[in-house]
Amino acid sequence: SSRRSLLKAKAMDLITSVAILPLLVGCVGIFSLFKLLQRMHMKAYLQDAVVVITGATSGLGRECAKVFYAAGAKLVLCGRNREALEELTRELAAPSATKAQTYKPYAVTFDLADPGAIVAATAEILQCFGHVDILVNNAGISYRGTITDTTVDVDKRVMETNYFGPVALTKALLPSMIERRQGHVVVISSIQGKISIPFRSAYAASKHATQAFFDCLRAEVEQHEIEVTVISPGYIHTNLSRNAITADGSRYGAMDETTAQGRNPADVAKDVLSAVGKKKKDVILADLLPFLAVYLRTLAPGLFFGLMASRARKERKSKDS
Ligand SMILES: NC(=O)c1ccc[n+]([C@@H]2O[C@H](COP(=O)([O-])OP(=O)(O)OC[C@H]3O[C@@H](n4cnc5c(N)ncnc54)[C@H](OP(=O)(O)O)[C@@H]3O)[C@@H](O)[C@H]2O)c1
Repeated sequence: SSRRSLLKAKAMDLITSVAILPLLVGCVGIFSLFKLLQRMHMKAYLQDAVVVITGATSGLGRECAKVFYAAGAKLVLCGRNREALEELTRELAAPSATKAQTYKPYAVTFDLADPGAIVAATAEILQCFGHVDILVNNAGISYRGTITDTTVDVDKRVMETNYFGPVALTKALLPSMIERRQGHVVVISSIQGKISIPFRSAYAASKHATQAFFDCLRAEVEQHEIEVTVISPGYIHTNLSRNAITADGSRYGAMDETTAQGRNPADVAKDVLSAVGKKKKDVILADLLPFLAVYLRTLAPGLFFGLMASRARKERKSKDS
């Protein structure tokens, strides 16, 4: 009987080894086919799409312009500095390795903190290519300061650029998207739209508001076939901290260590392109630690608040010393 069971075991071994191999090959094949179809779909989605990018003069917006251009998008580049937009347009026109058909971008300058300017800019944006397929709300400013020292005017300035500006631009472009039953609204929020860290109150508040608004929008415009993607990156190596405003409204002007050690904006732009191409709804682009912090805030808020209070104490001490 021991011989019989040995034979039985050998037969089972043979069956499983024979069956597992084709099963594995099948799974890899299906996965590769899925990825190939996804890539083809993404390519078709981005080629010839009219893409508006705010904050294209610097950092992540500038890098997004490069990857969307290379993917064959018809770009409308926005910012306040026309010269910087024109320089970027010249850079994009330089010969490159892209196989996609490319188009000369338009530049539209306006201040997102000025509601009147947004209305005029919307008409100009719509005139460029006749419609908008994808709006990338990327422009933003950061803030550094203690709540007790910060004037409400500073809170409002951050809110105007990071929240009311993108909201107004999105609302102005939505009717034409709804009419065409086609459109995609993308917003570059931040990990600080999901968790608040000390001495960033105005910035974190503006990004939390952004997350909330665009989550509502996603639900409301689903019936019109309009997509909404909220992207929450961790630190990126850009001029964001240099351009940040402080408690009295003056420019911070320094490159923070956290920002200096942040991800390369060109890499983040590739992830943004991929998230848009795949029509993802909510994406966190960050290292493990900030990613875990988002879950800690929900699952163990007491622990999270304790850690933030200790971070505030440490930062205050290092500033005082
Ligand atoms: N860097 C990071 O660590 C990080 C992390 C998470 C999220 N983000 C987000 O990523 C986005 C891009 O920031 P970045 O890091 O690339 O910073 P950046 O290099 O300072 O670029 C900010 C862009 O926003 C534009 N902008 C600022 N205020 C504006 C206004 N009132 N009207 C119109 N445009 C305005 C600027 O254009 P002009 O000054 O030329 O007008 C510039 O192109 C922001 O929304 C930011 O919150 C950044």
